[in-house]
Amino acid sequence: MTANTIAINQMMDKFDGRHSVWLFGYGSLIYKADFPYLQRRPASIAGWTRRFWQGSHDHRGTPEAPGRVVTLIEEAGAICHGMAYLITPEVFAHLDHREKNGYLRLAMPITFEDRDEVEGLVYIATPDNTAFLGAASEQDIAAHIARSVGPSGPNSDYLNHLATALRELGRHDQHVFEIERHLAALQSK
Ligand code: BEZ
Repeated sequence: MTANTIAINQMMDKFDGRHSVWLFGYGSLIYKADFPYLQRRPASIAGWTRRFWQGSHDHRGTPEAPGRVVTLIEEAGAICHGMAYLITPEVFAHLDHREKNGYLRLAMPITFEDRDEVEGLVYIATPDNTAFLGAASEQDIAAHIARSVGPSGPNSDYLNHLATALRELGRHDQHVFEIERHLAALQSK
């Protein structure tokens, strides 16, 4: 699948006619909501886990030297914690452009902390997109992040902001915190 997903996402019509839709954020959307929203609530999705397995050609790296950013990978029994935003459909045009590097909008059940559930949307970079990098050890991912930079800034800022935001949410993410630990060790050398 092409890495530029704008056209594919614009054909997604599942929530057409709705005044507002819940969007689940698990990466930069947790700490960087550069769009208007009606409500914001901590939430989770079941059966998916956050992984730094997606290449970033346009934000935290370049086409020649992609950085590493998060996507969601299906895993039975996993719970991914993040932040949900109630947004109006116009906001998707902005997000489709911001997240055009391989991310598809998928419909999915979102669970709030009070266990209320809604069907909402989440952007996921699936393994068949051309920017997908796949699995590596947390140590190798930290080394990759340490040397990557793109138009949105150093890849390390993305990782550190995400780790801080997860801590503020009171959520432990072994994968993210292990990468953060390796990165701090590399940067103190
Ligand atoms: C998110 O924070 O949910 C997100 C991550 C990558 C692409 C789009 C959204």
